[in-house]
Amino acid sequence: MADHKTNRPTIDEYFGMDAEEYAHSKWMARNQHETTGQAVEMLHNPDLFDGRGDEFYEDSILDLGCGTGFSSHELLESFHRVVGMDFSRDMMQHIDPEFQLNLIQADLRALPFRNKLFSTVISISAYNFVAEGAKNHNQINSQIRTALDDLSRILCSRGGVVIEFYPTKLEQDIFLKVLKSRDFSGGMMINDPNTRKEKKFLILQNKS
Ligand SMILES: C[S@@+](CC[C@H](N)C(=O)[O-])C[C@H]1O[C@@H](n2cnc3c(N)ncnc32)[C@H](O)[C@@H]1O
Repeated sequence: MADHKTNRPTIDEYFGMDAEEYAHSKWMARNQHETTGQAVEMLHNPDLFDGRGDEFYEDSILDLGCGTGFSSHELLESFHRVVGMDFSRDMMQHIDPEFQLNLIQADLRALPFRNKLFSTVISISAYNFVAEGAKNHNQINSQIRTALDDLSRILCSRGGVVIEFYPTKLEQDIFLKVLKSRDFSGGMMINDPNTRKEKKFLILQNKS
């Protein structure tokens, strides 16, 4: 069921029978494949990501909030190795075992990876949950800061990130403020603005 204030899905939609419904939704599969394709195009765009040669595409890509594997499946078209991570076992159990993925069950607010491990990270429709459980402005702020710091920690030099999400205005402002105050370059890209197909992408690159 959608959150009545923000009209976004609630986290409950990724557990139990709802996870099963997600896994079998043809509309969702199509939409998430298409969105992931747009994110991959951005990763290859030299105007958005500076100084990233082909070697980056030989490395593993991390898919944060991989769910039932729609986004990870699309990534396998362009990357040799895909690491999928999600905190819902109910979602991940629907991933087709034929996909050659490395799967980890964990929370994207506490990434279980060593420093500078990844050169590329992608996330499709999962970072809007980063402030889940926050009760006030300070908590929202602190959860977003912590998540972005952790992301920066696991990214190698020149590492690139594309996050597609649907933040509230407050969350978006905090993401952009934190981005400026950290060692990231990047910003927000909006595809098909003001249409039913509008998608928001946060583009980040580790400067150091
Ligand atoms: C809309 S689904 C997207 C799944 C997949 N990326 C796709 O394209 O179909 C959002 C996913 O984010 C996961 N998620 C939400 N918050 C999370 C968190 N804090 N840590 C890890 N996964 C999270 C949910 O369990 C769910 O599988």
